[in-house]
Amino acid sequence: MTDRRSIGVGRARACANIALAKYWGKSDETLNLPAVPSLSITLDALVTETTVTLEAGGEDGEDVVLFDQKSRDGEDKSRAVELLDRVRAIAGDDRRARVETVNHFPTASGLASSASGFAALATAAARAYGVDASLEQLSAWARRSSASAARSLYGGFVELAAGLVGDDSLAASVVAPAEHWDVCVVIALASLARKKTSSRDGMIETAKTSPYYPSWVACAPAYFREVRDGVLARDLEKVGTAMEASTFAMHASALAARPAVRYYAAATATLLDCVEALRGDGVTAYSTMDAGPHVKVLCMRSDAERVRDALIATGAAVDVRVARPGPGVQ
Ligand code: DP6
Repeated sequence: MTDRRSIGVGRARACANIALAKYWGKSDETLNLPAVPSLSITLDALVTETTVTLEAGGEDGEDVVLFDQKSRDGEDKSRAVELLDRVRAIAGDDRRARVETVNHFPTASGLASSASGFAALATAAARAYGVDASLEQLSAWARRSSASAARSLYGGFVELAAGLVGDDSLAASVVAPAEHWDVCVVIALASLARKKTSSRDGMIETAKTSPYYPSWVACAPAYFREVRDGVLARDLEKVGTAMEASTFAMHASALAARPAVRYYAAATATLLDCVEALRGDGVTAYSTMDAGPHVKVLCMRSDAERVRDALIATGAAVDVRVARPGPGVQ
């Protein structure tokens, strides 16, 4: 018997994002709801492209998940399959899928590949299974897979509120479009190695064992408000100082876990020193780090070249890229 359903294909392209006010910790692990509000910039230079193809009559067997043409198993695959399962349940279509993802930047090294990856996958899967989902719904599905991914559905400056236990509809929303502010993020890669502790494991361990975790959760909303007000006012000093406070408070809470959750490398410290020295020379530039050793520097576009050259001159970075506020999922 031939399968009369369409051969579904969905394609999507999403950019990664960098949090200016950090998400670290969950209020509901099952629904993957963040314990604190966060705010990010979607970045044009870090792009993931995903294609989801459904095979007619493909109910049997397994989904195939390829990252940069290599087959993936383990957690990377199971998290993709979980998202596909949720879309299949809504579509009432249990065909298996072939997922092909291409990342145009190094993955799993703290460069937020899960954010662009799940944003692109949610969108491509909805298309392939013929589900007419709004951006808000796609953002909520992506959040279930990776909370930072909820923000990558949208372009520009994007916020994700803290989640109320049980609220599976939580989605991100736009604070200001990409054209709002002429800033850049200069990304200095400290290493190309895959990170040892994923952000998911790192934040769960921090919440379980760090005596500083409750303080982090108590302080984070104030950093978020300061960043949000600063973004709306295009006040780089306000955003930069609040972003650094959010970053170091997040990392301090992680460092106090047992055993310590440490993402810093020697190169990280050299790159942070460089940004401080630039500030000493009158360049308005501020650092942030996520769950990896890389340093990302927020500055005005007019200073981006100078910041990039200074980071390269340290010799501590394996690669330096300049990103600008980018678009939402396409
Ligand atoms: C440090 O979104 O990767 O980059 O929801 O468990 O998948 P899960 O975590 P994830 O965490 C990102 C943490 C961060 C800060 C941020 O992006 O806000």
